[in-house]
Amino acid sequence: MPFVAPSILSADFACLGEQVGMLNESVADWIHVDVMDGIFVPNISFGFPIMEVLKRTAKKPLDVHLMIVHPERYVERFCDAGAWSVGFHLEATEDPLPILQLIKNKGVRTCLTINPDIAVERLFPYLQHVDMVLLMSVFAGFGGQKFIEETYDKIKLLRAEITRRNLQTLIEIDGGVSLQNAQELVATGVDALVAGSAVFKTENPIETIRQLKQA
Ligand code: DX5
Ligand code: ZN
Repeated sequence: MPFVAPSILSADFACLGEQVGMLNESVADWIHVDVMDGIFVPNISFGFPIMEVLKRTAKKPLDVHLMIVHPERYVERFCDAGAWSVGFHLEATEDPLPILQLIKNKGVRTCLTINPDIAVERLFPYLQHVDMVLLMSVFAGFGGQKFIEETYDKIKLLRAEITRRNLQTLIEIDGGVSLQNAQELVATGVDALVAGSAVFKTENPIETIRQLKQA
């Protein structure tokens, strides 16, 4: 069974507390938290005030996905704000290792992310240094985009490399994940599914989360 991480970016912020309450009642494993700075990606989402609400109301671990330049400036603050895992983009840094160390020093799980135009092999030197890698299956910046099919080839390469080296690194997939592709994604080697619109834009999010979990 995959880990399922609904992305709070697609929630109705007019009733954020209720939406978190729904996730608390669901079989979701984590809450995915998309932080965008308007520079690394052409969109701005939210930051610490929302983290504070999530920390106070969520019973599920917070899986923070930083889409920001200079992640080294903020990773510790997100750890202190209650993140359970902190991920940032490889292409936003020159050397991810010292930044990963900042997160580890806080006792928080690490995740390294790449956009669809970055070769998956660029993650390979870091696989033994991270708890999880996150493959973007849309270009980071917006919820509700269409899944990029070429991502399957990346998942296969990544899964083969992780298996070959006998590592425990988890593979998380983010962007355009739905009930239509969840099963194939898991069969291809994905450990964790992020889903925004597929969860929050359905009649019955609790049931959708349950079905994603069955994938
Ligand atoms: C996109 C974010 C995703 C997004 C997923 O930049 O990283 O987490 O919220 O939304 P859907 O599932 O709608 O593609
Ligand atoms: Zn995300």
